[in-house]
Amino acid sequence: MTGARRALPARGLRYGGDYNPEQWDRATWREDVAAMRAAGVTTVTVGVFSWALLEPEPDRVETAWLDEVLDLLHGAGIEVDLATPTASPPPWLARLDPETLPVDASGHRLHHGSRTHFCPSSPTYRERALAITRAVARRWAAHPAVVMWHVNNELGTTCWCPRCGEAFRGWLRARYGSVEALDAAWGTAVWSQRYARWEEVAPPLRAPYLLHPAHTLDYRRFASDALLALYRAERDAIREVDAVRPVTTNLMGFFGGADYRSWAGDLDVISDDSYPDPADPGSPVRAALTHDLMRSLADGPWLLMEQAVGAVSWRPHNVPKTTAVMRQDALRAVAHGADGVLSFQWRASPAGPERFHSAMVPHAGTGTRLHRAVQQLGRDLAALADVAGTHERAEVALLHDWPSRWAAEEPATPSEHLRVLPQLEAWYRPFWETGVGVDVRHPGDDLEGYRLVLAPQLYLLTDDDAARLRRYVTDGGCLALGPFSAVADGNARVRTGPFPAPFTDLLGAEGEEWWPLPGGGGDDDTVGLVPDPASPEDVGSGTARTWAEVLRPTHGVVVARFDGGDVDGLPALVRSRDDRLHYLATIPDDVLLRRWLLGLAERRGVAPRLPVAAVPAGVEVARRGPVTFVLNHRRTAVEVPVRTPCLDLLDGVEHQARVPVPPGGTVVLREALT
Ligand code: GLA
Ligand code: ZN
Repeated sequence: MTGARRALPARGLRYGGDYNPEQWDRATWREDVAAMRAAGVTTVTVGVFSWALLEPEPDRVETAWLDEVLDLLHGAGIEVDLATPTASPPPWLARLDPETLPVDASGHRLHHGSRTHFCPSSPTYRERALAITRAVARRWAAHPAVVMWHVNNELGTTCWCPRCGEAFRGWLRARYGSVEALDAAWGTAVWSQRYARWEEVAPPLRAPYLLHPAHTLDYRRFASDALLALYRAERDAIREVDAVRPVTTNLMGFFGGADYRSWAGDLDVISDDSYPDPADPGSPVRAALTHDLMRSLADGPWLLMEQAVGAVSWRPHNVPKTTAVMRQDALRAVAHGADGVLSFQWRASPAGPERFHSAMVPHAGTGTRLHRAVQQLGRDLAALADVAGTHERAEVALLHDWPSRWAAEEPATPSEHLRVLPQLEAWYRPFWETGVGVDVRHPGDDLEGYRLVLAPQLYLLTDDDAARLRRYVTDGGCLALGPFSAVADGNARVRTGPFPAPFTDLLGAEGEEWWPLPGGGGDDDTVGLVPDPASPEDVGSGTARTWAEVLRPTHGVVVARFDGGDVDGLPALVRSRDDRLHYLATIPDDVLLRRWLLGLAERRGVAPRLPVAAVPAGVEVARRGPVTFVLNHRRTAVEVPVRTPCLDLLDGVEHQARVPVPPGGTVVLREALT
């Protein structure tokens, strides 16, 4: 953390998108600003890809065109999130110094011609990036349109060049002190990998066979830190001229190339780019989970910096969003804590790789279905202005840790079918389906106050974090661990002894072997799960797939057992006698998982705080502050029972005992004052 976060000025729920005026002539700028006003746009992100126009050749900075754009926007009351253009260096930079270009894991240098073509460790790139950042900050820090600074764009480049190798060695020295300590921590006694001198340590470039998992894990940590260092350098350059306005960079949800938890404290505003696939029925739950991650990183409201109002153009097959889905995607983000909805982009590009990406103004213009939907969303967000700023902590925490995910998904584990994000999603789903709020936390966070903490797959757990989790349990918390958790320590070394090694005493069970089930990951390859007759709670019967473990109870309670296959009769779900520590050693079917998790929640006194009496299947409900969002995903109308009369803030209609929601419809309810 670098001091308190700077906040955006209050302005209800923000609405707008990326605006790339450099792609248009002056007459279009004027049309754009008028159309933005008509659509209720409050905020646009400008300058993300403007480097080549702002600095056509080294040190010749041209600002007049952007002065004019900012003045026009300001004249219309539209505020600007002003970006540093450093995500896409101009062609001259690679000519000036080809080593500004990144190198891939095979050791090949990439070329200019796309974007994000920079090596985070290149001194030339950094110097030129900071120079243009300073020029932008100096020129527009006093401009009344500017409310926030947007550093780079989706910082995510990993580079394997010799210069990054040098920086990596510096990073390792700081972490381990000596080569001997590195050898010991990584465990380089295998395969004759022992390093005798620092110079021998390089980035994990492609090699004939498997790489050392501790080496690759540390490289991912290093790569994340290198990007964070770039962010900080630009942020600090901005701070030299503007100590007041918030600075952000747009994140990418659960993106695997950076540890956002370690970044969060440096961002004044947590902002995220979210592109759920409208063709994928799993998108709503995944989007909600990602939004909850952002709200948790922010510890408060966050900003949806980018989304699509229609189709993207980077999937092989790009299904557009219906008006209903577009509205739901936007309002879901608000329900999960977003204080604004911005889209990529305002006006569709006629040229370039993204010529078929949807935009708030499509190629066909403003007299279109899509643009009318955009205008309607502007009105919807205005109607919900009071929701802005509201935030409360959930009662359930779901644990996620980037390094743990990286380590768990290295090759050469017992099964590549046990993946972290699908596990998180499966455990999150029952809460999402019943409208129970969930925060996404890290095992190193302060977990006090959460009634229930879930760790669906926490493979790597440092000694400190293990001690914290133990303390959370012994202080009266309730922790549920999923399969293959607490296996490795902070250096990705497997903990020896019965597993889950840091918890066997509290749990009352000891594991001896991992037992991936024959048949791999398919839903058809299952074994049975049956409740243990002696268990006080009954999770019912069901099936398990993919994964099992050989567990032996000591003083714990067996809740369910495997039925059939090689693991027939072995415990699948165990808990401590005091009901505070739970361990699930498999992937159960969704019904059993839901029964188990909601049962736990109920015993812990977790309840949805909703005016809705029962959530029908296919309906998504989420509470934020004083309002409840209800999204009907079904193709048929539903009636949602409510305990108290409610007002739909979107259309002003008051409902008594039942709220009708049309197919694909969204209502936002506030309990009527009685
Ligand atoms: C990302 C980028 C944008 C744009 C969109 C398209 O989020 O930040 O510049 O390329 O994807 O979906
Ligand atoms: Zn590099």
